[in-house]
Amino acid sequence: MLVKDPEKVRTLCRETRAQGRRIGLVPTMGFFHEGHLSLMRKAKDSGNYVVTSLFVNPPQFGPEEDLNRYPQDLARDQALAAKEGVDLLFVPDRQQIYPDWYRTYVEVEELGVLLCGVQRPTHFKGVTTIVAKLLNIVEPDFLFLGRKDAQQAIILSRMIEDLNFPCEVVVCPTVREADGLAMSSRNEYLSPAERREARGLYLALSRVCKLVVAGERSTRTVVHEMRQELSRWPLVKPEYVAAVDATNLRPTEKLQGKVLLALAACVGPSRLIDNAVLTVSSEGVRVEL
Ligand code: PAF
Repeated sequence: MLVKDPEKVRTLCRETRAQGRRIGLVPTMGFFHEGHLSLMRKAKDSGNYVVTSLFVNPPQFGPEEDLNRYPQDLARDQALAAKEGVDLLFVPDRQQIYPDWYRTYVEVEELGVLLCGVQRPTHFKGVTTIVAKLLNIVEPDFLFLGRKDAQQAIILSRMIEDLNFPCEVVVCPTVREADGLAMSSRNEYLSPAERREARGLYLALSRVCKLVVAGERSTRTVVHEMRQELSRWPLVKPEYVAAVDATNLRPTEKLQGKVLLALAACVGPSRLIDNAVLTVSSEGVRVEL
């Protein structure tokens, strides 16, 4: 069922919850790929009433970014969501979310200006604002997010805890193409040559994951090795390459505990991101890539 009106969504969700169902929200900007569908599937398989929101959110785009050319295909998205058993597809108009007099934003301090936030200083404020609004409209029990956007998931988890939203975050694995490239709507913009080289991001991460599993614990070495691998791909222009604490995004000297290996690079017209989460302990290394 496609619903545009936020108040109608709230009423439907409240009625559903009154019948004893739990609600899982999958927030998206549409143009679904396997990554989005895997979140819907996970939400459905866990027995929830699944709400997927589809809204291209202007405040999370910078002035030079791709807001006006962000890929969209509502008819295709509707068919794909129906196939995954999504119960409610919430597709509000911009005016319904940000009316002319709109003035309120939600911001998580510190975390939003690191990593992607250096080049995109207002991006996460846009993300936290729209997700806070969606949580207030849908009132879900679970929020399903992809680990591909690890910084986003960390910031939204912080917001949910700090603002006492009664909602549990479920972070699901990154879905990859056959050559390892993380699925993203922005892969659409790549030329065939750029698409071939874009797998350099995955290769850089998998190369250092192997090193860490083999015993490497120096952040400096790991970052250097990722840069080395990226330099083999001339169309891949790194923006940042980092190994940081996966809870507060602060730099670490030694790889210990939960570590986020994160990178962003421009490949032709697309800015791509990818990451791996490593849990390093005396018993060994767990890799989520
Ligand atoms: O990950 C995205 O697609 C967006 O940032 C989100 C969470 C739907 C908010 O607009």
